[in-house]
This record gives sequence, structure tokens and C-alpha cells, in this order.
Amino acid sequence: MRPVVFVAPFPLETTLRFARAAARLHGVRLLAVVQEAPRGHDRKLFSDVVTVKDGLSTGQLAEAVDWLRKKYGQPQRIVGVLEVIQVQLAKLREHFGVPGTDPDTADLFRDKARMKDRLRAAGLPVAKHALIRTRSDAEQFMRLVGFPMVLKPPAGMGAKATFRVNSAEDLFRAIGGMGASAQSPVLAEEFLTGVEGSFDTVTTGGVPRADSISYYLPTPLQVLENPWIQWCCLLPRSIETPEFAAVRDVGIQAIQVLGLRDGFTHMEWFRRPDGSVAIGEIAQRPPGANITRMIGLANELDPYRAWARAVIDGAFDGPWHRRHAVGCAFLRGMGRGRVSGTSGLAEANAAVGRYVEEAELPRVGAPKSDSYEGDGHVIVRAASTDVARRALGKIIETVKVHYA
Ligand SMILES: Nc1ncnc2c1ncn2[C@@H]1O[C@H](COP(=O)(O)OP(=O)(O)O)[C@@H](O)[C@H]1O
Ligand SMILES: [Mg+2]
Repeated sequence: MRPVVFVAPFPLETTLRFARAAARLHGVRLLAVVQEAPRGHDRKLFSDVVTVKDGLSTGQLAEAVDWLRKKYGQPQRIVGVLEVIQVQLAKLREHFGVPGTDPDTADLFRDKARMKDRLRAAGLPVAKHALIRTRSDAEQFMRLVGFPMVLKPPAGMGAKATFRVNSAEDLFRAIGGMGASAQSPVLAEEFLTGVEGSFDTVTTGGVPRADSISYYLPTPLQVLENPWIQWCCLLPRSIETPEFAAVRDVGIQAIQVLGLRDGFTHMEWFRRPDGSVAIGEIAQRPPGANITRMIGLANELDPYRAWARAVIDGAFDGPWHRRHAVGCAFLRGMGRGRVSGTSGLAEANAAVGRYVEEAELPRVGAPKSDSYEGDGHVIVRAASTDVARRALGKIIETVKVHYA
């Protein structure tokens, strides 16, 4: 048997889908390191489960891996899908001499300032940026890029604590509020305008073997700035068109410049009003926001297995053939508190129910989500991009989440 360590602080359904695919690979004995143990049937996915107090602590994870190693032998791989554990996983691999992404590569995909420096040095288009530690850093960068400007933590995620500032006054107040200092700089970026989307790949041996492109409707930042907007993500039916050539070109180069060998990548791109493309950021993990699931639906394949094959076997079972347009509408509404109900479902279902592949409705009583992914979602699939886009439009016009 091949011991494979799967690190997952929390047993979320979206994470366990990857674990199921890993457990099904030939000869794999899947060993879990978790903060909260999976229950019921999900526990059976793993030959063993070690619980740690802090699932983000490299030291605690290392003790757990060491214990598993003594019991089951040298792990063949140490894997996990969450953004916030990628550097720790790489450190564990280095410590135990296990193949896979190394710490420097993992950090380049995680630290947005280092990432942008490296991409820009290779001639790839990224927003101008600076690490702001003092008021004078802020003044200098302000003179360079003007307003609006974007501020964010250097290794944030989910657009948490990412926002736009429109004036010097906003800027100084924000860096004060974010506690910018020499030890904890704030990342400032030139404001990119235009359309945003993702470019996602499965990469083996340093070569992207297959990819997917999505549109964000609208950008996550606009969704967070406007509480009435319900976010959608759309995978067009065809991505072999000239409009996507530049996205694919910079996306493939970005992976090679940052040096990923085996795994999924998730890049965000902007197309500016003048048509030029810029890279927003890139991660070396499968995409969230149901994009992994949607890639499976668009190409009629098991995307979780594709991930497991890449990170555990270094293999790709392709090529992929895109056969459908797929989109996801993320449900939310105005107001605060807990979900009290969802209206418009019957009307939406009558209009576009035939396109619905998956629906996870907001759970009554659940606290309102602070994420652009909202409190529930509906995934649609159609023969053309237009039909999928119209179905998403109908859903977000009709379905509303209520809170009390
Ligand atoms: N330089 C920028 N210009 C315009 N919008 C930006 C910029 N940086 C980030 N954003 C917006 O904020 C969102 C979150 O920022 P991002 O860098 O992707 O961090 P996260 O890791 O939180 O996803 C992006 O999806 C985009 O909509
Ligand atoms: Mg992002």
C-alpha cells in the first residue's frame, strides 16, 4: 500500500470530495491529519485519522505526520487542498523528504507581493504594487499610481480585508486601521478595471495539460461592495476562441515562471477595457467557488480524480473536451442576521429548472455569510454560453434570500 497523508483542518464536503478521489487511487492508503475529525461514513475514507489542536501549525502537523510515518512507513505524498495550508504542506514535504511542491514555490504562490515581483520580472502583466509599512511608503505609492487603489493583506484569501480606497484620506485611515507596520505590511495595488475571471489548470511535470476558463460576474470586489449583488461564475461553452488566447498564454507562462510541477492551479485574470490582460493572482491548489465541480460538469469528467492523479501519481488522464457551458449563481440577499427564508424558488424553477445540475439552498437559521459566495448556490449546465448566462440571470433576478 502507498501511504498518502491528506491534511484537512475541517471535514468540509468540498474538501472531502478530494479525499474520496485520493482514497480510490490504486494502492493508496489514505491517512488524515485534521483538526476536527470527519464523522460517520466519511471517517471510513481514511485508514487512520490523527487530530491536532491547530490544523495550521507546521509543528503540530509534523508531529502527526511523524506518528503516521512510524506506523505506516514513509509517506509517498503529503497533500491538501486548502489555500491556507499550502506552505505548511510544503515544509512537511521538505522535512520528511517527500516529493511534491517545495516551500519556496508554495510561498511564491501564496505571497502576493513576491508572486507579482517574480511575474513582472519575467515580463508578465500584473498590477503595480507596493508593500506599505509607513505613511511615507503610502505617499510614495500614491504618487505612482493615484486612485482608486486596492489594499489587501499580502497573503489573504476570499477577498477578506480587500478593499478599494479612493483618496489620500481613505488611504491613510485604512493603513492605520489595518495596522500597517514593518512587521505586518499592507499590500497596495494599482486598481485594475475591466472583466475578471479565472484560468484553471491541471499541471504535471511542470506542463499545464488541460485548462478551464471562467468569467466572474461581476468581480468579487464589486460583489462585496454592493450587498444587493448575487455573484455568478460562468464557464463558457468554448474556450478555444481568440478572446481567450492571451489569458491562456500568460496563464501558462505564470505557472512555469513560478515553478509548479504537479497539481491544479487557479489564476485570476483581468481583461482591461483596452483588451489587454493582467494577472490578478495565482494559487497552486484546485479552484474554490464550485469551479472544480463545474469543470467536471463542463467536460464530463471527475475533476477530483484529476487532482488526485496529478498530485499523487504525477499523471494526467486527458485530453479534456469541453462539452457544455456551466455556471453557478451564489444566493444571498439584503439585510443582516440569520437566514429566515428564500423566495422565488418556484418561479425560477419553472423558468430554468431544466438546466439545474445542483442546488444547495440557504439553510434557515444559518448566520448570514460574509463571503461573496453567499448562503447557497445553484449550478446550471446548458448547450450554449448564452443559455447558461440567461439561466443565471433569471435565478439571481428571481431568487432572494431573507434574513431576520
Ligand atoms: N489590483 C486590483 N485591482 C482591482 N481589483 C482587485 C485588485 N486586486 C484585487 N482585486 C479584487 O479583489 C478580489 C480579491 O483580491 P485577490 O487578490 O484575488 O485576493 P484573494 O486572495 O482574497 O482572492 C479580486 O477577485 C478582485 O475582484
Ligand atoms: Mg482571489
